[in-house]
Amino acid sequence: MTQKTFQFINPECSTFSKDAASPASYIRREIEISGDVKRAVLHMTALGVYKAYLNGEELDDRLLLPGFTNYHERLQYQTYDLTDRLNSGKNVIGVILGEGWYRGCLGLTSVKAFYGSKVQLAAELEVETDDGISVWKTDENWLATQDGPIRQNDLKTYETVDMTKELTGWLEPGYDASGWHRCVIGGYDGKCVPHEGEPVLEREQFPAKVLKTPDGNTVLDFGQNLSGHVQFTVTGKAGHTVTLKMGECLDENGNFTTKNLQAEGSAEMGFNGALGQCLTYTLKEGSQTYKSQFLISGYQYVLLENWPEEVKADNFTSIAVYSAMPFISDFTCSNPLINQFVRNSQWSWRSNSVDIPTDCPTRERAGWGGDINVFSETANFYCDTRKFLHKYLGDFMSLQTEEGSLPFIIPEVPFELIKGLKTQRIPYSSAGWADALVNIPMVLYRFYGDTSEMEFVYEAAKKYVDYDLKRAKKRNWNHLLRLGKHYDYILDTGFHWGEWLEPGSVMVKDGVKALFTPDAEVATAWLYHSAKQVSEMAHLLGKPEDEAHYAEIAKTVRNAYRKEFLKGGKVTSKRQCRYVRPIAMGLVDYEEGRVIAKQLNDMVITGGYKIGTGFLTTYRILMVLCDYGYVDTAYKLMENEGCPGWLYEVKKGATTTWENWLGVDDNGKPTDSLNHYSPGAAVAWLYQYCAGIRLEKPGFEEIKIQPVPGGSLTWAKANYESCKGTIVSEWKIENGIFYLHVQTPAGVPTTVILPDGSNHTSNGGVMNLDCKIG
Ligand code: BGC
Repeated sequence: MTQKTFQFINPECSTFSKDAASPASYIRREIEISGDVKRAVLHMTALGVYKAYLNGEELDDRLLLPGFTNYHERLQYQTYDLTDRLNSGKNVIGVILGEGWYRGCLGLTSVKAFYGSKVQLAAELEVETDDGISVWKTDENWLATQDGPIRQNDLKTYETVDMTKELTGWLEPGYDASGWHRCVIGGYDGKCVPHEGEPVLEREQFPAKVLKTPDGNTVLDFGQNLSGHVQFTVTGKAGHTVTLKMGECLDENGNFTTKNLQAEGSAEMGFNGALGQCLTYTLKEGSQTYKSQFLISGYQYVLLENWPEEVKADNFTSIAVYSAMPFISDFTCSNPLINQFVRNSQWSWRSNSVDIPTDCPTRERAGWGGDINVFSETANFYCDTRKFLHKYLGDFMSLQTEEGSLPFIIPEVPFELIKGLKTQRIPYSSAGWADALVNIPMVLYRFYGDTSEMEFVYEAAKKYVDYDLKRAKKRNWNHLLRLGKHYDYILDTGFHWGEWLEPGSVMVKDGVKALFTPDAEVATAWLYHSAKQVSEMAHLLGKPEDEAHYAEIAKTVRNAYRKEFLKGGKVTSKRQCRYVRPIAMGLVDYEEGRVIAKQLNDMVITGGYKIGTGFLTTYRILMVLCDYGYVDTAYKLMENEGCPGWLYEVKKGATTTWENWLGVDDNGKPTDSLNHYSPGAAVAWLYQYCAGIRLEKPGFEEIKIQPVPGGSLTWAKANYESCKGTIVSEWKIENGIFYLHVQTPAGVPTTVILPDGSNHTSNGGVMNLDCKIG
């Protein structure tokens, strides 16, 4: 299927105002078909978010269509086969059109109408009967009203519903639409492309527990933090209004709160965005069931206000909503806290894969590149992300500037430092965030052995590295006196988030610091990493000149890094990230890494096995420690139940992974998002090291199973549905013997390395092995 040209229609007569609530548009078109339908295909899209019906039935169960893309450039359209659903005679296509990402609130500061101020619909129905082919397009014959029940709608902030305005029968033929108006022909300058992403669907459901909080309020606890909506049944008098406010936690006094959903420090800086997560619902007479149509929230708790009857748990269900990528793996072990950590990480992944990979399902809901960059290995152990990430990479590239710079939020979202003041375009190309464009295709290659994504991004990736090189040649004003030719390859200009959120740091202060002092160590390391990856891509794509060129760049940057940041082969820093990064990224050779790994190990031990890394190295620290034999330290770090540490939050009852290591303090005070997936990226270590399913040869052409047992664990097991077939690795320790059960797909060369160092090979199938363990 290819790009399509549609005729767009605008269903609104009034002019949009950012300060007024925008009711949803209800749009209908009656269509009369003469003769039997042989074939009927409908294509539909919208600037906004639509829910479409045919003769009263939803077209399909996908939500939030047409999905979030860089609307300035491209918009997905959906295709429905209606051959068996269209009646001969009268039919009605009905659409509810909401704000969505197009006109709704976006980003940290919840700015409205970034992509445009007119919501629009586009559809084309082609029907073949014995009489021939007829085509219906969206035009002035499509009727609309804004006088329906959804009075205000937004994905992130508010949905206001007045059921006394219910439009009974509007989806059926013969409805009296005399009060409705004709739509106006509109237009869209971007490209309309076939739907690429994964469908966003309703998934798991959770029952409620009713709580009375100390402040006298009624709060529902669904037991699982997630992204979704609440379905409720309520009985009462017409005109009575209730509210449901969604939040992630209770505060230090046990009361409902959403305060943690403002970025720590942002109130002081004066840029709080409207958070909302609030459904206001006015009842019609009697009993009724509702769930928000366009509002999707991040929550575990719901504060009910003004409920007209006794609150009964059975009347409420929490429904998870996310991109439907089935889980293809599982990991469990003898430490139940680690198992809960894995579950939490999975739930944060679900909550943050709602059409695009986001940071959190609450405060920003933005497609931060750094978050998916560090999480991409873990995500691919969980699910087949190819479709989901392909769409994301497409938007990533569409945002590349002429000079080669790449965004760090994809698709783009606005930022308003002072309310009402011109929306600033967020600065570009932060190291570790923008580099996701280069790294994600390489991760996909390792999982699937397929070069198509690298081919897809190749030119953009080259351009980005070239751009970074140019930035490196410029000198930061406070480094003007630094001499040495190598400094031309130290990237100390531009904006970089840096390591980000190391324990104890305050997010907004970190952000402001990053504005003035880019962290050259982080930025230079990523420049090396991306140059090296582009050279690898060139190799795999059969472009020897590029391969040599980018390999040379990588080598020069690597030398510059070593000269600038290593003193006699050692690192001098109090920060753990400074030790992890050069090893993890190959900025030092294995032998040289010994000294640095020892320094890191000593540091972690002295620090009482507390994690000290931020966003960009937390996902690698355990691997680095194990690669140098510090297995005991790695497990103590993983199993540490104090703060900062992965299991601290599990002990505090978390059901998702937190943004901030101290997400809930000892007094129970919550800070920042409690649903960020990036810290859960340590799960890739559990699969690859603890269970031993290594990413050795791309696409699992050859499989290496090398479990690294340790800590308190007496058993661990993982299974993973690889592109070659099922891989299982299960081990247990009994009476000083390590028993391993391995299963790999038939015909795939497999090497198993036991903890005693012994090697065992097979051509796939089952292997049961054992060895002594000290
Ligand atoms: C987001 C992150 C993001 C970061 C950039 C935060 O506000 O929630 O997850 O990557 O900013 O450093």
